[in-house]
Amino acid sequence: PSLKEIFRKDFLIGTALSWPQVQERDPIAARLVPEQFNAATPENLMKAEELRPSWGEYNFNQADALIEYGRKNNIAINAHTLIWHSQMPAFTRRIQSADSLRKFFNDHIKTVASRYAGKVQSWDVVNEALNEDGTLRKSPYLNKLGDNYIVDAFRLTAAADPHSDLYYNDYNNEQPKKRAGCIEIIKKVKAAGVKIDGVGIQGHWHVGRVPFKEIEESIQQYAALGVKVAFTELDIEVLPRNFSGAEVSQRMQSDEKSNPYVNGLPDSIQKQLADDYENLFKLFLKYRDQISRVTMWGVHDGQSWLNGWPIRGRTNYPLLFDRQGMPKPAFYSVIALK
Ligand code: XIL
Repeated sequence: PSLKEIFRKDFLIGTALSWPQVQERDPIAARLVPEQFNAATPENLMKAEELRPSWGEYNFNQADALIEYGRKNNIAINAHTLIWHSQMPAFTRRIQSADSLRKFFNDHIKTVASRYAGKVQSWDVVNEALNEDGTLRKSPYLNKLGDNYIVDAFRLTAAADPHSDLYYNDYNNEQPKKRAGCIEIIKKVKAAGVKIDGVGIQGHWHVGRVPFKEIEESIQQYAALGVKVAFTELDIEVLPRNFSGAEVSQRMQSDEKSNPYVNGLPDSIQKQLADDYENLFKLFLKYRDQISRVTMWGVHDGQSWLNGWPIRGRTNYPLLFDRQGMPKPAFYSVIALK
């Protein structure tokens, strides 16, 4: 059974794709992706630092190959991401004036969005612009361009690619305060007469602590604004995450407390993970008319970013397929819903 078949009438089922996976150099992904998924998001290769080696220079090799991979395998591409404070090209750190940053910003959106206009299904136009309290994050964009930069980003993207869906994407934006900030953003873009089609809830959650109530309220409240809801980077990790910065730098891969499952996941946690995924997809099905897409942040546990974040060298188990590419109990509990 495949996820994309099972949820065909409900929402797209996506995965993040790395550059080796696009090149089919990950044999597990080469088999699973065309079989299981009908949507994909580039995990890194469309971020500004990947596309912009220097001022005035673009490198589209990897992004072009991703588009071709999508076309060949009938996989809709969600382009991630145009405007984000993180993974910006090194040269942008030397930008001093607002005028130069404005030039970078305008140029980037116009060039990238027009190149892939009509070839991608959606854009994560702006990523992670909010603080946890719902105020706007103090990024170079906010500091130099002012708080209209988000509206500007959507306006420029819509002009360059009028037909793809435009999303605002963030993490923890199911939590009430951050959600309120997210709602302000959507309202502000709409009030300016600018197109915004959806909101992305990343969905990086923790086993046993998935905020179901907040997720349900968020789907309802976002949908009430007339935008689609996508779950854009879903994974449910099993390892402790909330360390202070100092603790992170001290902890090593051998640290049993931060990396307790090097030899496998205990049955009890495997079961809890399966229950969490089951309950999540139950909720997604309840709101299938509001939800456009559910994207996993990776194909299989062996290549998840959570083996390396926030601490390198951990053994994490956040996805539906294991390190051998075999379906986990979570996979079976999800497909049993239909
Ligand atoms: C992550 C990638 O998975 C990693 O490979 C990379 O080192 C850092 O970025 N929110 C996002 C994604 O919007 O782009 C991030 O992806 C995960 C958090």
